[in-house]
Amino acid sequence: MDLKVIKDKFVTLFGENYRIYTSPGRVNLIGEHTDYNGGYVFPGAIDKGIYAAIQPNGTNSVRAYSIDYQSYVEFEMREDDRPEEPWARYIFGVVREIQKRGFEPKGFDTVFAGDVPLGAGMSSSAALESTFAFALNDMYDLGIDKFELARIGQSTEHHYCGVMCGIMDQFASIFGKKGHLMRLNCATMEFEYFPFDPKGYKVVLLDTVVKHELASSAYNKRRASCENACNHIKHKHNEINYLSDASYNLLEEIKDEISEEDFMRAKYVIGEKQRVLDVCEALEKGDYETVGDRMYGTHYGMSKEYEVSCDELDFLNDIAKECGVTGSRVMGGGFGGCTINLVKEELYDKFIETAKDKFNKRFGHEPKVYDVVISDGARRIS
Ligand code: GLA
Repeated sequence: MDLKVIKDKFVTLFGENYRIYTSPGRVNLIGEHTDYNGGYVFPGAIDKGIYAAIQPNGTNSVRAYSIDYQSYVEFEMREDDRPEEPWARYIFGVVREIQKRGFEPKGFDTVFAGDVPLGAGMSSSAALESTFAFALNDMYDLGIDKFELARIGQSTEHHYCGVMCGIMDQFASIFGKKGHLMRLNCATMEFEYFPFDPKGYKVVLLDTVVKHELASSAYNKRRASCENACNHIKHKHNEINYLSDASYNLLEEIKDEISEEDFMRAKYVIGEKQRVLDVCEALEKGDYETVGDRMYGTHYGMSKEYEVSCDELDFLNDIAKECGVTGSRVMGGGFGGCTINLVKEELYDKFIETAKDKFNKRFGHEPKVYDVVISDGARRIS
């Protein structure tokens, strides 16, 4: 990311003094749609993020410029000052969520830009929320802990952006560590860093560049299905707090009480829990075949049971299989975006070439290719 563009614009609009903060997007090796079900996720922060120059301005207003949207917005910080522009809602939401927790950040000026591809399932919105949550906490010395910073981003999605997301993306953006994935138990928020350096393999994202319109309402609908299934199980077994705590047997017990659709959603979630645990165990042994096998398992589940895949993603998954790629699956919320692929180094060039060629013939454009570099989380850089 070329910070000069951000710095120059800040100087032109607001003056010479500023600090720069950044927070990254994320990948997730496995554990999808498990976070809001109290299950495990296994993300890592990436080398693409949001970068913001920011400085208190001594007023009660926020003055913000987005380089990517070439758009300037000014807003005060009370609930009814909510800006219209979708990008500004994230910043407003973060400010409001900080205030709701009893802190009083003052107004500030900011110019920001990012290099996380939008709508590609790499959490550009979490990167934006985390950048501002981290920056305001640091700049005004608020003393908010890192878990709460992640929750501030998540609540921003819930209350200002209409997505009832889990905690994975904001957690990964805040806690990321270079060279490490993190296995997070979303029920207890306990997590461990796992060094991730699969010798002889590459991790690559293939971006379909498809983003489905109804992604956020479909996401919320999946969440509602899971909650419904969980409530029915809880009714019979009150020791179950989250759907991820349940077994296939418990799900079978309530099969007749819920719709076929909700049953399939719940079945996927319960299966996904075991896949994450299998992957962690396999990683510790350097058994990448098992890691890859479970990734394909997740793709199947997300496509056929959770139904958050699409033709383009399924097509890329099939190509990966044909090319002998070790593991491949749709990453993130789904409904478009990327596949994440674990591929042997010697197969890499052939795979990328084949995927580009076949995808282009079928859909009229090539997928974008991003090599994954696992990087640090939110921080001040100057
Ligand atoms: C989106 C959400 C996350 C998570 C994933 C699916 O990225 O923001 O909380 O639910 O989808 O795993």
